[in-house]
Amino acid sequence: MSVSLSRYLVEQQRAKGKIPPELRLLLEVVARACKSVSHAVNKGALGGVLGSAESENVQGEVQKKLDIIANEVLIEANEWGGHLAAMASEEMDSIYLVPNRYPQGEYLLLFDPLDGSSNIDVNVSIGTIFSVLKKTDGGQGVSEADFLQPGKQQVAAGYCIYGPQTTLVLTVGDGVAMFTLAREQGSFVLTQENVQIPADTKEFAINMSNMRHWDAPVRRYIDECLQGQEGVRGKDFNMRWIASMVADVHRILTRGGIFMYPWDKREPNKPGKLRLMYEANPMGWLVEQAGGAATNGRQRILDIQPSQLHERVSVILGSKNEVERVRSYHQG
Ligand code: AHG
Ligand code: MN
Ligand code: MN
Repeated sequence: MSVSLSRYLVEQQRAKGKIPPELRLLLEVVARACKSVSHAVNKGALGGVLGSAESENVQGEVQKKLDIIANEVLIEANEWGGHLAAMASEEMDSIYLVPNRYPQGEYLLLFDPLDGSSNIDVNVSIGTIFSVLKKTDGGQGVSEADFLQPGKQQVAAGYCIYGPQTTLVLTVGDGVAMFTLAREQGSFVLTQENVQIPADTKEFAINMSNMRHWDAPVRRYIDECLQGQEGVRGKDFNMRWIASMVADVHRILTRGGIFMYPWDKREPNKPGKLRLMYEANPMGWLVEQAGGAATNGRQRILDIQPSQLHERVSVILGSKNEVERVRSYHQG
């Protein structure tokens, strides 16, 4: 018999005591929002959702129509339920407070509404990444400071990938589960539980066009992979780079691999391209929950104390032994 996301969450709440009812509601609402984003993605040109919105986000990136649509869908779905204190998004300059006309909860929802924007118009997998924190002080009011918690304090995290299938991938700290959208019944159905990333791999994901800008440890690691069987690693490696973090991480959760978006010399003052709060933390926790590892080269991603909402970070994650190797190359 198939298990729906709703049933999975009820059981996590009831039998395992893993999640309180408000968190269950929150996750149901996020899943529902992802369903509507999925519908919009599927319509593509027929729905008029492709192309640029001719605006820029706070990070100076040109926004696509779908970046904005997905952001609005997530906000509208989540603001009235009473489970949230506030939201933060890659596409919004500052935090979004739950309007006064609705009750306030204690959870904080963070998201990258549409990950892989450069793939929207070319019909390649994209996704929504989310992370849930809890307000720590219990008091009234909420500010950006409430969001600045290290990733290890997440209470739920996941993503929804819009690919050949729409798949929701979730952790509430009890392993990683995957749910495939059954369109005819309109619900997410559990299709894999206890996801495990193999500790070793022969597959790496990095944007090779930036090679000349990398730091020595990353160059060394990739050089050794490229030497293949004749080199120090004694085996041939394969490369994949989809340019949607959701799709690259989904492959790694499915069959292993290592993903890197390291710091590079193009913009030396930026710690990396990817965002700590909307990308690295939720993905880092999912990967750890599946037996993998996530680091910036010097520190576990989930231990990083954020100092600003839109903070960027260098990311190395995936199969444990490979991540450990890259980390060791960074020592000293
Ligand atoms: P976003 O579309 O949310 O801005 O994120 C894109 C990110 C990530 O998904 C992907 O791994 C990376 O940017 C691709 O960057 P390059 O185009 O530099 O390869
Ligand atoms: Mn992204
Ligand atoms: Mn995005």
